[in-house]
Amino acid sequence: MSVGPRITVKSLHEMKQKGEKIASLTAYDYPFARIADEAGIHMILVGDSVGMVVQGRANTLGVTMDEMVYHTRIVAAAVEHAMVVGDMPFLSYQTSIPEALANAGRFLKESGAAAVKLEGGAAVSHIIRAMTGIGIPVQAHIGLLPQSVHQMGGYRVQRDEDRLMADAKEVEAAGAFSVVLEGIPAGISAKITRALSIPTIGIGAGPDCDGQILVLHDLLGLNARHVPRFVKQYAALRKQATRGIKAYIREVQEGKFPSSEHSY
Ligand code: KIV
Repeated sequence: MSVGPRITVKSLHEMKQKGEKIASLTAYDYPFARIADEAGIHMILVGDSVGMVVQGRANTLGVTMDEMVYHTRIVAAAVEHAMVVGDMPFLSYQTSIPEALANAGRFLKESGAAAVKLEGGAAVSHIIRAMTGIGIPVQAHIGLLPQSVHQMGGYRVQRDEDRLMADAKEVEAAGAFSVVLEGIPAGISAKITRALSIPTIGIGAGPDCDGQILVLHDLLGLNARHVPRFVKQYAALRKQATRGIKAYIREVQEGKFPSSEHSY
């Protein structure tokens, strides 16, 4: 099933200009990427949140480039419509420009992503400039930066308006095609969104961003962990999966499965 032409950097800009909201989410595997794409999602981020929601780690810091390329390749193979963005993991871009370019290039070359995302504002604008300078589209990410969890002293809402606005303007000037605003009060996100010509994609950043992103496992209710205030659960898949698996166990133990219907 196809739900329209491929979403590109250009179409995302046009959506901002027309005031059409961009709906984005994360995915890490083939079945969910396909479901999201067929449902009509505009952008799929293969987030380093894979470390927490799929690998069960406490934070995203341990995720490797090879793991990100692996998951991004699987997602890109499933998707026909959405724009696929590969998330650059911790220390894959901060150490040197050559290493950052080589790693960003792997997402496009080896995994089929159309863009990369990296965390940071003014401090990483020279890296964004180098990537966009060789034709790699970059989505920036400012505000609450999960890769800086230890420096922030936890996952905290960021409220320094002057710094956030300066970061947003710097990443736009460096050539980012979009910017994720994470954990930012709604009023500040609204001002940033108005000040930029590139689309802002919010997560815990209020309703006035040009688009929204959520972690797939959060919005589908697949997690056992704490659900942050900014998450809305649109399904309860964990409960449904538990019910289904318990029913299977019961029927196996009672000799009800397989019945003649499921036997040769
Ligand atoms: O890794 C991720 O999933 C993210 C989004 C939450 C923006 O960075």
